[in-house]
Amino acid sequence: MESLVTIEGVSKSFGSGNKKVDLLDDIDLSIAPNQLIALRGRSGSGKTTLLNLIGALDQPTAGDIYIEGQPIGNYNEKQRSNLRQSKMGFVFQSYGLVPFMTVEENIEFGLRIAGVSRGVWKAKIKEALELVGLSKRGKHYPYELSGGEQQRVGIARVIAVRPMLILADEPTAELDSKTGIRMIHIFQELVKNRTTTIIMTSHDPVILEMIEHVYALEDKKIVYKKNEIIV
Ligand SMILES: Nc1ncnc2c1ncn2[C@@H]1O[C@H](COP(=O)(O)OP(=O)(O)O)[C@@H](O)[C@H]1O
Ligand SMILES: [Mg+2]
Repeated sequence: MESLVTIEGVSKSFGSGNKKVDLLDDIDLSIAPNQLIALRGRSGSGKTTLLNLIGALDQPTAGDIYIEGQPIGNYNEKQRSNLRQSKMGFVFQSYGLVPFMTVEENIEFGLRIAGVSRGVWKAKIKEALELVGLSKRGKHYPYELSGGEQQRVGIARVIAVRPMLILADEPTAELDSKTGIRMIHIFQELVKNRTTTIIMTSHDPVILEMIEHVYALEDKKIVYKKNEIIV
């Protein structure tokens, strides 16, 4: 099967001189479509950095990333932005909600940016809020919600769009375990319907155990850890 995301010889460093931090060293990874993938690794191991590279939010120091076979390394800012808007959805660790928009408006904003036709916005917002269990919070502003609720709005905003590729950074970090498991079940449904690929990060053993494909970032390298018992 054709690879959806191909990471080829990717290295990433920040800074220079004696402040240089090498995070990723010559990483190769190929991700087929319609999978739920988890990335784990200790704090500071480069999980967010790798998601940002795949999401064309940042560029590798060396190597190439291909999305559907297209190398994105030489894309200009406009092309990168088009790629993100047409094919990707992000669940940020810090939620990334627009503070002066209600929950519904935040989700609507995501649909608008993704170019989803206006006629279906209302139904999609309703469905996404039901899925994450926040139907009663649509008119609330982010500051009126708990961290966990804001995190679920962040998830609702991307599942409403159903982009080809969802990049979710610690999407269950602020959730109690029952709600976290519920969100992973939603992710599994999306993937099973064969419309979406999800790459998420987590260091929660309960969550990781639910996910078939787990990769670990260890010593700047990526290691496959399928079904490994994590202690
Ligand atoms: N823009 C940046 N400039 C300098 N250092 C950075 C930058 N982004 C991340 N880092 C450093 O890279 C390391 C890994 O970051 P990150 O990818 O956020 O790890 P993780 O998500 O696994 O916790 C951190 O120690 C951080 O200080
Ligand atoms: Mg991180």
